[in-house]
Amino acid sequence: MTNGQTTSHDEGYVLITGASSGVGRTMARELSGSHRLILGGRDPDRLQQALGDCVSPGKHLAWRHDLADVENIAAGLGSLLAEHDASVSAFVHCAASLDVLPLRSLTTEMVADTFRVNVFSAMEIIKALTKKKLNKQQLRAVVFISTIASKFGAKGFSAYSASKGALDALMKSLAIELAPQVRVNSVLPGALRTPMTESMFNDPDLVAKFERDYPLGVGLPMDVIHAVEFLISDKARWITGQQIIVDGGRTSNISA
Ligand SMILES: NC(=O)c1ccc[n+]([C@@H]2O[C@H](COP(=O)([O-])OP(=O)(O)OC[C@H]3O[C@@H](n4cnc5c(N)ncnc54)[C@H](OP(=O)(O)O)[C@@H]3O)[C@@H](O)[C@H]2O)c1
Repeated sequence: MTNGQTTSHDEGYVLITGASSGVGRTMARELSGSHRLILGGRDPDRLQQALGDCVSPGKHLAWRHDLADVENIAAGLGSLLAEHDASVSAFVHCAASLDVLPLRSLTTEMVADTFRVNVFSAMEIIKALTKKKLNKQQLRAVVFISTIASKFGAKGFSAYSASKGALDALMKSLAIELAPQVRVNSVLPGALRTPMTESMFNDPDLVAKFERDYPLGVGLPMDVIHAVEFLISDKARWITGQQIIVDGGRTSNISA
């Protein structure tokens, strides 16, 4: 577990969406010794298990909400914060939906669902957390977990990539609009083995390709989490509006 880094927002909670699986779940476990957390997810059993992984589970909160239900985010989050007299000083948007499908199979409704979870929910959460009444002006740092697929193409990734590109563009505008109170950045990971990518990692040809393409090898959730921990800390006090690529050199590699 990490020992934590100095933050100016020790009083507030760190809200992590997507904390019930993969990167978000590992992030919750790793940050739980040094921060008070709100773990977001849909599935009550997975959320409970993620809470159980944390250091001192009793000091953290769980927020069960389907982020596709964007319209009720402010009410749900507001009730949770009011019930616990809590405020959020950092928000990490880790939740995402990925359906790898060719363009011909995509429907407008599917793309809209992807955007609701990956982009609109983040916008709505930040809108709620910047309301004085709801969050006592405590928000200081936001990190979006994006992907290198927001900058580069991949077959079947059009809806997901477009949503993450929109998320990164949102990040840049909010970094300006919310300065100097709130810093907003994105972390863009390359391929990591998590439940989201399990089917890719079960394909030996794809794994061999990853091994060729990633100069530093395929990454671990911890590689992303270290970057997030830095970005929400005071050590990143002069960093905002940035896309931080964490990909083992994948996007710099033009070798055949
Ligand atoms: N894995 C990779 O190779 C990779 C690479 C680049 C970027 N990323 C990014 O890293 C982040 C974490 O991905 P991961 O690999 O850890 O994925 P994961 O294991 O599939 O976890 C996704 C998380 O998002 C939550 N989520 C999905 N839809 C939701 C909804 N409608 N409402 C609320 N929560 C919802 C899930 O909650 P439930 O438990 O409720 O389903 C789960 O906690 C994502 O933003 C992803 O785009 C991953």
